[in-house]
Amino acid sequence: MQIVKNVAAMQQLALKWRRAGKKISFVPTLGYLHDGHISLVHEARKRVGRSGRVVVSIYVNPTQFGPAEDLSKYPRDLKRDLKMCRAAGVDVVFTPGDAEMYPELVASRHAVPAGFSTYVVEEALSKTMEGAARLTHFRGVTTIVAKLFNLVQPDVAVFGQKDYQQAAIIKRMAADLNFPLKIIVASTCRERDGLAMSSRNKYLDAEQRAQAVILFHALNAAKAAVKIKAFPAKRLKTDLKEFIAAAPLARLDYVEFFDPETLRPVTQVKRGVHMALAIFFGKTRLIDNARL
Ligand code: PAF
Repeated sequence: MQIVKNVAAMQQLALKWRRAGKKISFVPTLGYLHDGHISLVHEARKRVGRSGRVVVSIYVNPTQFGPAEDLSKYPRDLKRDLKMCRAAGVDVVFTPGDAEMYPELVASRHAVPAGFSTYVVEEALSKTMEGAARLTHFRGVTTIVAKLFNLVQPDVAVFGQKDYQQAAIIKRMAADLNFPLKIIVASTCRERDGLAMSSRNKYLDAEQRAQAVILFHALNAAKAAVKIKAFPAKRLKTDLKEFIAAAPLARLDYVEFFDPETLRPVTQVKRGVHMALAIFFGKTRLIDNARL
């Protein structure tokens, strides 16, 4: 397994592979890998076979974190990440530093890098849910993912369904900006009790961790409800707020019901509608989603 830190070296390697007819499969990550990420790596390998190349990027992207968010405290363990990537058969881990990705990065209040002034902004799908709760988040995500696509030159890129809105926005960006690649959205990996795997689960204390499964239970409760009949979204939200209140450490940020393609909110919730929710446990914010 090769470790590449330099952007020019990554791009040259990718272009060399492409000239040699190798297919490239890509898994972008913020690092602090868990089994959910490794399942994306396996999916990436499946798409290009043994003759293809699998690249994982590990980069804690400052532009997708808001001023009050956990950028400096975001968990990092590169040594462990590299070990996991090696064991999963990754060909290249791309780990650029901030100076490579955003020249002259200044850690200002809004994490706005000087020496870098071009952003990719998706306008239709990124205003609700995570986009409403984290105002500049998706601008940071689309910008870094566009940069990574240009550097890694993938034929296939794999994202997790846990970040459903992110995956939809990246699909739209790739279509709108004619990136010649296929986006795969792989299903969410869960802990034994159903909690979606996330690097942020590490922040939870034992009591919070025990109650965090309420996200999964709320999704299941909504699924069970709409199996029987359709509900007005307002009514189901009220019922779910009560349901979530059974976990006293949970502070609901949002619960939304929306069309799975357009992400537009629906007023009537029935089977096939998508549900997403975000819940704080202390300062830790967890998200999850499912098709009802
Ligand atoms: O989902 C993530 O881990 C990040 O948002 C991504 C796609 C790696 C961009 O930094």
